[in-house]
Parts: sequence; C-alpha cells; structure tokens
Amino acid sequence: MSFTEFKHPLIVDKLTRMRKADTSTKDFRENLNEIAGLMVYEIARDIPLSEIKITTPMGETKGFTIDVPVVIVPILRAGLGMVNGIQELIPTARVAHIGLYRDEETLQTHQYFAKTTKDIAEAYTLIVDPMLATGGSAITAIDIVKKWGAKKIKFICLVAAPEGVKNLQKAHPEIEIYAAALDEKLDSKGYIVPGLGDAGDRIFGTK
Ligand code: URA
Repeated sequence: MSFTEFKHPLIVDKLTRMRKADTSTKDFRENLNEIAGLMVYEIARDIPLSEIKITTPMGETKGFTIDVPVVIVPILRAGLGMVNGIQELIPTARVAHIGLYRDEETLQTHQYFAKTTKDIAEAYTLIVDPMLATGGSAITAIDIVKKWGAKKIKFICLVAAPEGVKNLQKAHPEIEIYAAALDEKLDSKGYIVPGLGDAGDRIFGTK
C-alpha cells in the first residue's frame, strides 16, 4: 500500500496557480501538463531498461533503452488533461481510454467507453485523473485495466482527498498512488476542499 505526495517547489508553485479561481483555461491546462510531466519524471524511475549495442561517432558501446510498452490510461474526460505532459517525456507511450459517469441518483459509476491497447498485458500502465475524490472512478478504472490484463499499474492524480485515498487503498491495496497534493476533505457534493473546482470544466473551458 503506497501513497506518495509530491512536495517539490516547482509542483507546489504550479498547483497553486491552478487552484486560483481566476487562472485562465490556457494556464490551467499548461500547468496541469507540466505537473504531470514532472511527476512522471520521478515516478518512472522503475521503468525497466534493456541493454543494447550502439555505435557512436567514436565507435561501439552499449546503451540502455526502455524495455516495455508504456500505456497511459486517462479517465475521461479530465484525465485527458494530463496525457500530453506525459507523452512529451515518453513519446512512444500509447493511450488507452476509459469513459465513466456517475449516476446522480444511485451514485454508482458506469462505463460508457473503454478502449485498450494491444500490449497492455506487458505494459507499464499509468492511469491518470486529476481529482481523486471519493475514489469511485479510480477503483472502477483499475478494475477495467486489470480485466484487460495489465499487471504493472500506477494511479496518478493531481489532488487527492483522504476519503479517496482510503477507498482506493482498500479496493486495490497493491496499487501505488501518486498525488501532487493531499487536500483536507470532500464537501457534501463530493468536491475536494480546498481543491480547484471542476477539473474537467477548467481544462476544457466548459461550464
Ligand atoms: N472532480 C473534480 O473535478 N473536482 C473535484 O473537486 C472532485 C471531483
């Protein structure tokens, strides 16, 4: 069971910009992608490498190359806001998609879209969603990705609520969870406090 909160000054500064209510859609999106990249730079330390022979202008030597497929799985739609920042660092990463919505009456999570990649069973899989609120979407997304055959799965969010971390750890104790910040609590409507509002609306400029 692991939960890591990133407290690097670059991440804290960018997240503070994102939290401000008057930050523009463009700045919000740019900071989100930058934070996602900074987080993955650290998280990806355990991606396996394999040794290869290469020829430099000076002659033969050995090098190391990433040995496994990397698959990013954004939970639609807000998770899309983290994909570009990760692909800037790992351009060969494929992108699977999971679309979920919550029935406002039953509060159950339902899947409306899911598309995997051909190599997910061997992949280093990064599920991304900016807000880990109740944990319902994250738990369902991990259930789906496990059904696809993924074995090495990490969950990356921007802001987590204690309730979401607890629920996710209970449902999937072996999954490593990473957040830029662990906030105080959820409000009665399931929003994270202090949070940053509705991440999807702020990424896409909707209302
Ligand atoms: N989803 C969001 O976009 N924001 C929250 O605070 C909680 C869930």
